Amino acid sequence: MTIRIAPSILSADFTKLGEEVAMCEAGGADWFHIDVMDGQFVPNLTFGAKVIEAVRSRTSLPLDVHLMVVEPEKYFDSFAKAGASTLTIHAEAAPHLHRQLNRIRELGCAAGVALNPATPLSAISEIIPEIDLLLIMSVNPGFGGQEFISYATDKVRRARLMLDESDSNAALEVDGGINRDTIRLVWEAGADTFVAGNAIFSARDPQAEIGKLRAQCGVLV
Ligand code: DX5
Ligand code: ZN
Repeated sequence: MTIRIAPSILSADFTKLGEEVAMCEAGGADWFHIDVMDGQFVPNLTFGAKVIEAVRSRTSLPLDVHLMVVEPEKYFDSFAKAGASTLTIHAEAAPHLHRQLNRIRELGCAAGVALNPATPLSAISEIIPEIDLLLIMSVNPGFGGQEFISYATDKVRRARLMLDESDSNAALEVDGGINRDTIRLVWEAGADTFVAGNAIFSARDPQAEIGKLRAQCGVLV
């Protein structure tokens, strides 16, 4: 059974980003999650290709890039070139999802779609074959350290059914408020990929926390 822990570098100490990346890798991180925000789609501004490139220079693990931006296609080429492995765009910001996902794949990246808490799963029902990753937001995007929205768990359960019914192998990822208490809920609901920012980087022992999160998921009884 797949369990991927993806530390979100948004919560890392940027004065020592290289060390933070190495620490997460030593702790058993599977992917790195990189939150790109443009101050328009979300009320916060973060970083772009330079930071993707910097993380890429320190790890060969997959870089899971989450674009919280309007007109995401403007960034596909530069992010792919910077070393992104997956480019995940928001359905709410991408009116031509079919074309945009195909362009991401043409660039050699995996194509992901993210859904805000208020966006129904039906937003992607017609294009499941084009999706390599479905990201269910369990907070309203924009900031790390927010509280998990509990009804995201049922959305994950329905997303699992939807993907299975379509014979999709897409990763099912959850992002926002994931910690030792919440990870088990969404894992049981069928998620396989878990973003965690605050839970890892604010832990007393961030390196060990990655394993602690993974240990919360286990064999279903
Ligand atoms: C929220 C971002 C998240 C964020 C998660 O807008 O998309 O990836 O970094 O942070 P935590 O785990 O602290 O909720
Ligand atoms: Zn994110």
